[in-house]
Amino acid sequence: SSLSDIYKLYKNKTPITVITAHDYITGKIADKSSKIDAILVGDSLAMVAKGHPSTLELEFDDFYYSTKSVIRSINEKFLIVDLPFGSFESSINQCIDSAIKLMKLGKIGSIKLEGSYELTDRIKTLNNFGIPVTGHIGLQPQKFNLTGGFKAQGRNSIQALEIFKQALHLQEIGCKLIVLECIPEKLSHYITENLNIPTIGIGAGNKTSGQVLVMSDALGMLDNKLPKFVNPYLNIHNLSIDALNNFGNDVKNLNFPVSSTHTYPMNDEEFEKFQ
Ligand code: KIV
Ligand code: NA
Repeated sequence: SSLSDIYKLYKNKTPITVITAHDYITGKIADKSSKIDAILVGDSLAMVAKGHPSTLELEFDDFYYSTKSVIRSINEKFLIVDLPFGSFESSINQCIDSAIKLMKLGKIGSIKLEGSYELTDRIKTLNNFGIPVTGHIGLQPQKFNLTGGFKAQGRNSIQALEIFKQALHLQEIGCKLIVLECIPEKLSHYITENLNIPTIGIGAGNKTSGQVLVMSDALGMLDNKLPKFVNPYLNIHNLSIDALNNFGNDVKNLNFPVSSTHTYPMNDEEFEKFQ
């Protein structure tokens, strides 16, 4: 689907649903859910799919490779792709080059960047060249070294005003969507009411125009402690361990494979000839 489909939901006040995907399998699952509107290839994949302690370690080429895998899995959904740390900061050129390299893969509807004022020229340029930009403010995981780790932002009046101004600025310079991460519901509500572009919240309450979750959090794919704002819809991790234990037990007890069902037959005559 296209950006205009996402805007139709926004105009109708239908909450916009976004889920991350980081490979072909998770992309397939997201693409097939009729209740999901958009897929995000988030740089959170550094942590949930590659085991890094933060998103900073992620190399553009590795992210690019993962993005290609997700793209092969998608038929239906609006696709948003992050610019990872190190792929857009050094110059406007670097930013445009990274974004265009991703856009050339096809199917991408928007490029997402963490930040606001510091990205003014970059976002305007992307917009001028026809690349819809999704902003990302509040908690910005790429800046966790400066902001005191992965914790809620905008809880005092000064910070809240700063985040509100950042949101207005992103809208003014042409962002088409804004992710609001880990800010109080009161603030995300105020921002959403004062913008005319959709806000997508994560850990930002239910007054935003939509919600995004990291799929591995929502489906319990890892054994990590989940953030407060996640509703764990499933625990694939434990279900999978149980299933592998069942496989292991069956093999060790000679209950798998079952000769009558899991094997390829060969007629006796052929076997005798062979012997
Ligand atoms: O990388 C990511 O998954 C994100 C979402 C948390 C919005 O940016
Ligand atoms: Na991200």
